[in-house]
Amino acid sequence: MKAPVRVAVTGAAGQIGYALLFRIASGDMLGKDQPVILQMLEITPALPALEGVIMELNDCAFPLLAGTVATDDPNVAFKDADFALLVGAMPRKQGMERKDLLEANGGIFGPQGKAINDHASRDVKVLVVGNPANTNALIAQQNAPDLDPKCFTAMVRLDHNRAMSQLAEKTGAHSTDVKGITIWGNHSSTQYPDLHQATVNGKPALDQVDQDWYENTYIPEVQQRGAAIIKARGASSAASAASAAIDHMRSWALGTTDGEWISMGIPSDGSYGIEPGVIYGYPVTCKGGKYEIVQGLKINDFSRARMDATEKELREERAAVEGLFAK
Ligand code: NAD
Ligand code: LMR
Repeated sequence: MKAPVRVAVTGAAGQIGYALLFRIASGDMLGKDQPVILQMLEITPALPALEGVIMELNDCAFPLLAGTVATDDPNVAFKDADFALLVGAMPRKQGMERKDLLEANGGIFGPQGKAINDHASRDVKVLVVGNPANTNALIAQQNAPDLDPKCFTAMVRLDHNRAMSQLAEKTGAHSTDVKGITIWGNHSSTQYPDLHQATVNGKPALDQVDQDWYENTYIPEVQQRGAAIIKARGASSAASAASAAIDHMRSWALGTTDGEWISMGIPSDGSYGIEPGVIYGYPVTCKGGKYEIVQGLKINDFSRARMDATEKELREERAAVEGLFAK
């Protein structure tokens, strides 16, 4: 049996936390041979509820669950963490854009970034889920000067999965038949689900759907899927968000399938002409615990305009939170 790894989860008593912890403990994220110690962070008033969640975790008698820690202190939660899933943040309500949460949530991620900097493993893998995820990831990263900036990522995998599933439904295929989708940019309504390299059953996706559907139905529906779920459920997505977080971390830790890519929000290195530093959704492959941007994809004018629009929003969000960066 492998030695246990430490997985920190913030907002552990929330909706996503409840859908996430049991799947991590059952081995869905890191494999059925990898024991985990769950280090769960909550605000003080939510600690009693978190105790209830831990009672249920224990009641599952998971073979891979090697320990639990419940705390309201980030320095304890991130101690020696190998993985950190930053979920704890306020969700938006109907009628809000995710960036409207920056004021309420931005302040959470500076202190957590500092605690990760001071206490986590030096090659910790951080995934920010709490919205607005890309810019919150940037805030955390900018408070962790001793760590490689590439340790900090944001979740666009839910958008990637939504984009696969909606294309599969339209073409009468299964989501496993869909390859080569990219979510460029921000986890927001400016994100750009790009089908120019996508295939369904090995054939170009854009030959199987018409341009009007792609432009005027598919792109807006993928962009607005989070809002549609809030409208239908009266609460933001939880199980699908948790599932995407599992997918993101599993791909990063265990690798992507040869010849395929996934979308991750990662610090831009300037690839594809994107402003360096912003946390931008890119097509990536993963191997040996590292991710790499897929290079050399052809970008036409249609894509360029959309990639630039979502980059502009990320630059604006960054400008709004620069005061939260460590000096
Ligand atoms: P929720 O309100 O059910 O749970 C959030 C939990 O975080 C609560 O238990 C709260 O006490 C806790 N929390 C608040 N501040 C904290 C802090 N400083 N430290 C630790 N815990 C803290 O919300 P939810 O539905 O679980 O959603 C969580 C976040 O994830 C929201 O911001 C939501 O918008 C976002 N989200 C992102 C995606 C994505 O694709 N990136 C998808 C779905 C939801
Ligand atoms: C989602 O995409 O479902 C989440 O980001 C929640 C939201 O606010 O839309």
